[in-house]
Amino acid sequence: MTAILEARGVTISFGGIKAVQDVALTVSKGELLGLIGPNGAGKTTFLRLLTGILRPHEGQILLGDVDVTHRSVDRRARAGLAVTHQIVRPFRAMTAVENVMLAAGHGFTRSPLRAFLHVSRVAAERRAMQLLERVGIADVARRLAGTLPLGQLKRLEVARALALDPQLLLLDEPLAGLNQNEASRLSDVITELNRDGITIVLVEHRLVEVLRIVDRLAMLDKGRLLAVGAPTAVMQRADVRAAYLGGADDAGD
Ligand SMILES: Nc1ncnc2c1ncn2[C@@H]1O[C@H](COP(=O)(O)OP(=O)(O)O)[C@@H](O)[C@H]1O
Ligand SMILES: [Mg+2]
Repeated sequence: MTAILEARGVTISFGGIKAVQDVALTVSKGELLGLIGPNGAGKTTFLRLLTGILRPHEGQILLGDVDVTHRSVDRRARAGLAVTHQIVRPFRAMTAVENVMLAAGHGFTRSPLRAFLHVSRVAAERRAMQLLERVGIADVARRLAGTLPLGQLKRLEVARALALDPQLLLLDEPLAGLNQNEASRLSDVITELNRDGITIVLVEHRLVEVLRIVDRLAMLDKGRLLAVGAPTAVMQRADVRAAYLGGADDAGD
């Protein structure tokens, strides 16, 4: 399998705490990898290191075979990397479709005039509508994001990430706060995106959904990669169970 992403011995500390410690992990092109771990394990920090929001104190991050450790968030995004955030922060006074158009806006910033050209706006809006359809919320495209319930905002967050046309999508707890029905529907969307060719790293606490959809499972504990492999094999390990049950306060469904 071809590696689309590789972390080599990645470490970062905050004050005295090693939030991510010597993590080595390879993501293969096309896979859907689950990343689990108790609260505070370093999952979000690890995703931030991958996207470039944070820089590691040690180690390297490669996209394909390119070392991007010192490259900006923007450059990594242009190389095909997109992320959704644990806490969704849409522009509440804009409609859902406008939020997606804005997320796709790197085209506009390179050519500001394009934003004022009607033809270009219509095309951008059509594409944004397609993305809303893809995540199943085209029916609320004209509603202000501030009026949408969490289940729809979580889908909007995925549509915004898709606007970057990513090859690799990092999802940080996309199912958090959703009811069972919403969680299961969004999991199905994630599976479809993966089948359509997007490689996905899914950070998630909802183990039932994670185990239903992922190809492979990795487990972080206290900043360290404790296990990685076939989901059932990882879940059967005594150290994984102990770490998970010992540290998680919302471990499951
Ligand atoms: N910006 C920061 N400043 C200080 N400590 C942080 C920061 N971000 C994360 N941490 C700490 O790093 C550890 C890992 O946090 P995080 O990556 O958010 O864990 P997870 O997403 O697995 O719950 C925690 O101890 C957290 O308090
Ligand atoms: Mg987190």
